[in-house]
Amino acid sequence: MKESELVGVQKTLTPVLKAKALDNRLPDPILGDERAEEVMRRLDPGYDQRRFGTSQMGLVAVVRAKAHDDWARGFLADHLDAVVLHLGCGLDTRVYRIDPPATVDWYDLDYPAVIELRQQFLPPREHHTVIGSSVTDPAWLERVPRGRPVLMIAEGLVPYLTEPDVRRLLTGVVDAFPTGQIQLDTVPVWAWRTSKWDPTLRKYDARFHCGFDDPAALAQWHPRLRYVDEAPLSDSPILMAKAPANVRRAYRLMNLLPGLKRSTRIVRFRF
Ligand SMILES: C[S@@+](CC[C@H](N)C(=O)[O-])C[C@H]1O[C@@H](n2cnc3c(N)ncnc32)[C@H](O)[C@@H]1O
Repeated sequence: MKESELVGVQKTLTPVLKAKALDNRLPDPILGDERAEEVMRRLDPGYDQRRFGTSQMGLVAVVRAKAHDDWARGFLADHLDAVVLHLGCGLDTRVYRIDPPATVDWYDLDYPAVIELRQQFLPPREHHTVIGSSVTDPAWLERVPRGRPVLMIAEGLVPYLTEPDVRRLLTGVVDAFPTGQIQLDTVPVWAWRTSKWDPTLRKYDARFHCGFDDPAALAQWHPRLRYVDEAPLSDSPILMAKAPANVRRAYRLMNLLPGLKRSTRIVRFRF
């Protein structure tokens, strides 16, 4: 399997991996993911040679990854027997970054083609299972042990699913486990409605299929689910502290427009 053989939404894993690779080259990185840089270099040795090749404008994706990591570490510190469902994992190296104890069972899920690619670049580890499946096929959940706390992470995934699929996923996970944390990110309705004209998505032949103006309201889908909080993104202190000056300036300007400031929302739920 080659990266060039990925189709549509599967191709969106590359720009986020590239952002993490470039972050690692900052003097004081946000995520500091050396493995992401190695994988990106093997995938595309000249990834930083082209026009805007070293632009750090994608750092906001790194801030998103850091927010998900921080929440995940917090949950795992209190739930050493957790099962982690890392959905739409792409080539993200979260399991190595977080390095959970052996009492945690971690599942990385993405389409079979992505998992095949992943296995060429990222080594196996104990208590780590990869599942090649669409997240919308309910059969994958049967392969995961029940009766333990669950941590579900869906980073950069939900907008590519339809609302009924997101609802089935969330309610299915809540029904399957006694307790847990669900962390995901969403885009607003306007971003979903205009996504077919979005130049970045067009480049990858992908489109958003849902959007939420009030992602906290997803908690209403299940009586046991409650909204906890939201993590800052384009106005986050870590971005403003660590991004190069030109990137900080660009984000400060974008943050003046509330629609752009909240164009991705990272939210956390518990049950
Ligand atoms: C923007 S990438 C994010 C990858 C990874 N979470 C990260 O942040 O680096 C979106 C990922 O979601 C995956 N994806 C989209 N729809 C999916 C589905 N129905 N089932 C499984 N994976 C899906 C894509 O293949 C891709 O790897």
